[in-house]
Amino acid sequence: MHHLTLTAEDNAELSPMLEELAKTYATIENRELIRRAPVLARSLPVRLLEFLEEYRIGEPSALCMVSGLAVDEAWLGPTPQHWRDSQYDSPALQQEIFFLLCAAVLGDVFGWATQQDGRIMHDVLPIQGHEHYELGSNSLQHLSWHTEDAFHPCRGDYVALMCLKNPDAVETQVCDVGDLDWSRLDIDALFEPVFTQMPDNSHRPDASHATGDPLVDKLRARSFALIQSWNEDPVKGPVLFGDRDQPYTALDPYHMKTDGWSERSRLAFQGLCDEIEAHMRDVPLHPGDCVFIDNFRAVHGRKSFRPRYDGSDRWLKRLNVTRNLRGSRAWRRAADDLIIY
Ligand SMILES: [Fe+2]
Repeated sequence: MHHLTLTAEDNAELSPMLEELAKTYATIENRELIRRAPVLARSLPVRLLEFLEEYRIGEPSALCMVSGLAVDEAWLGPTPQHWRDSQYDSPALQQEIFFLLCAAVLGDVFGWATQQDGRIMHDVLPIQGHEHYELGSNSLQHLSWHTEDAFHPCRGDYVALMCLKNPDAVETQVCDVGDLDWSRLDIDALFEPVFTQMPDNSHRPDASHATGDPLVDKLRARSFALIQSWNEDPVKGPVLFGDRDQPYTALDPYHMKTDGWSERSRLAFQGLCDEIEAHMRDVPLHPGDCVFIDNFRAVHGRKSFRPRYDGSDRWLKRLNVTRNLRGSRAWRRAADDLIIY
């Protein structure tokens, strides 16, 4: 793992900037703040900037951890019961800003019209009623490992998580595909665009709310309909792409349909899944950890846990980051609109 621990001096250097920005903006969703993030990020400690750039361009690992950010759990107050409750007056705004700036070093943050009401920064927390659902807000059921948004051509290069609370040290699970023994696998078969990938549950309209803006609501409804149509007429693609010696991956087996696959494709896919399972690592996140998972080079999941629903539950923030914002231009309303419709 590519790992850097912030020192007391780093935190002291960061603190005035984060405090000032948290006073200026009421929410991390403020568009001006998000727009300024790449410029503001230049004021981060130089060794942190160098560390993130080394991860971005050199791909030394599929997992990059910045730990040691100061988090005062007493100041945070109770974990929200739902992601809807956390957008304004966030007690974690300073940490959210730090997380945003780090992400802005790796690329452009973006959101989905179809996820968490089109917000850029998501909450990951257990929600009552979702315990056994295949969704990041579940708890009693493990979250199956996957590439984030594997079904979508605009999926991010990185999925980033910042931990605010994790009282039971519940493990995030990550497999760095750089650890796999590719010689055991049928690479040619896995590069064939024949694998049926369905949309995942996080893009379903169940939890969506009207924004009050008729145009946005109309576009969002269209976006839900398009994604829904992929359930009936699934997109097929390769599960490996890029360089054949060090392939990139895109797969979410829980949301894949094996009907109609050739015997060779099926065996190659099973071989890949077995190899990934054998190399899965537990990564318990602690408060103040920011982890940037390379969505091309790693799959991730989470172990099951017993939710508390007493305000002390595990609470993470999540960002999607792309290195090719223009690649999704046909899906966004304007060059500087960061939401994919
Ligand atoms: Fe995920």
